[in-house]
Amino acid sequence: MNPGQGLSLKPLHPLFAAEVFGLNLKQALDADTIRAIDAAMDEYAVLVFRNQPLTEAEQVACARQFGPLDAGLRKATGAATRFKHEELIDIGNLALDGAVADRENARLIGVLANQLWHADSTFQDVPVKYSMLSAVVVPAEGGQTQWADLRAAWDGLPEQTRGLLAGRTGRHSAFHSRIALGDDRYSEEQLRRFPPVERALVHVHPGSSRKVLYPSVHIDRVSGMTVPEGRLLVAELLEHATQPQFVYTHTWQAGDYVMWDNRSTLHRGKRYDLAARRDLRRTTTLERSVARASA
Ligand SMILES: [Fe+2]
Repeated sequence: MNPGQGLSLKPLHPLFAAEVFGLNLKQALDADTIRAIDAAMDEYAVLVFRNQPLTEAEQVACARQFGPLDAGLRKATGAATRFKHEELIDIGNLALDGAVADRENARLIGVLANQLWHADSTFQDVPVKYSMLSAVVVPAEGGQTQWADLRAAWDGLPEQTRGLLAGRTGRHSAFHSRIALGDDRYSEEQLRRFPPVERALVHVHPGSSRKVLYPSVHIDRVSGMTVPEGRLLVAELLEHATQPQFVYTHTWQAGDYVMWDNRSTLHRGKRYDLAARRDLRRTTTLERSVARASA
């Protein structure tokens, strides 16, 4: 099937990212539409759907059509949620009572780590596939989300650096970026529940068969290197992968629904006024094949 065949698509960037028209995500999608969205994801990696105000239940149902859902870091922290559906991951700045959270709110400090370049949940042994963000309330300024195309980043990587990466892995740790931001209130038990995971610094994206450069702020060391050498290499790779020509910036409107492939992109949120209300809700799917194999 051609990428996105049957979908009405408009590319949003020269390399990746597209807007999808003509679908109502409140309704169940038929098998052909799911296949077309999967094919478009393989091609564009980021898909934007406007004017899709979804309830909690609708968002969960929509995401489930693309695979089993992951609960994110709450599996380790056991933190309370303001949502009825525990599959929803809170990316907003609201407290449990729905009011804007105090700046010292522990969950909010964790959410701030999303402003660093990462792919979701690469620190867990079961790999994730898509993430979907639904915007309910957005601040008037700031808070954009940016995605970087890691296939284009690999294509643009100098030969000498490619050679340096051959066979190397990065150690992805759930808490590395959070601790770096001063969020270090994790118990030994919580840390133990998410032991670090080794992932290749370069992999082949299964849907597009393209090579992917895969750095992240979650990496705290690189195989065969000292800790400082590895961290400097990751910083260099992130700088390369997130150059403006590889990045799509999304300015949110309430009702936006954006899905992306965590295996071929990095993303980060941009700074916004924490006193302004922001209600964004994420769902994340596991790779079907892996979920089935481990079930
Ligand atoms: Fe994220």
